[in-house]
Amino acid sequence: MTQFSPSILTADFVHLERALQELEHAKADMLHLDVMDGIFVPNISFGMPVVASIRKATNLPLDVHLMIDRPHRYIRQFAEAGADSIGFHVEAGSDIETTLLAIKDYGKKTCLTIKPATPADAVFPFLPLCDMILVMSVEPGFGGQAFMENVLPKITQIRKKADSLGLPLDIEVDGGINLQTAPRAVKAGANVLVTGNVLFSAPDMAKRLQELRNITNPSHIN
Ligand code: DX5
Ligand code: ZN
Repeated sequence: MTQFSPSILTADFVHLERALQELEHAKADMLHLDVMDGIFVPNISFGMPVVASIRKATNLPLDVHLMIDRPHRYIRQFAEAGADSIGFHVEAGSDIETTLLAIKDYGKKTCLTIKPATPADAVFPFLPLCDMILVMSVEPGFGGQAFMENVLPKITQIRKKADSLGLPLDIEVDGGINLQTAPRAVKAGANVLVTGNVLFSAPDMAKRLQELRNITNPSHIN
């Protein structure tokens, strides 16, 4: 079954609690939290205090996506803020193995993340240390962008590699997921989809999430 990780990046932060309740009611599988530092990406979003507040306001697992420079410096803070999984970019300038091991030491799930132009084999050496690989299907930094179709073969390459190693890897796709692109990402091998704009632009988030579940159901895909 496909899992859904709604991103709150485009939520109204004054009424965030309302959005969290709505997403729980919609039976989201987890919450995707986009942390941006204005250096690794051109945008700035939020940091540890917001993650810690969200932790108190919801029981949903927190899927933290760090878009920050040299992320190894902040693993402890995000673990303590209540992240359940911590994802960081291979392009962000930290030693990858050391950072994955630090995340594991805090008892958190590890997620290695790649930008659209980074090839699949950049993550291959680290797959045994990863619970999840996040494949960006837009340039990181902003919600509401168009899905880049050319990342689909990369998702399949990573799925094949994980299968050949016997690893039960989660593959998350982030950026531009909507009713058209969601089934294509799943068909390519993804099993976790980040959903930002597709939910926050919907009149009824629960109904939209159910539509996404229906069209990504295995019986619908093949
Ligand atoms: C972009 C973020 C995404 C974004 C997804 O840098 O990593 O998580 O919020 O938003 P949509 O689903 O609107 O593309
Ligand atoms: Zn993200």
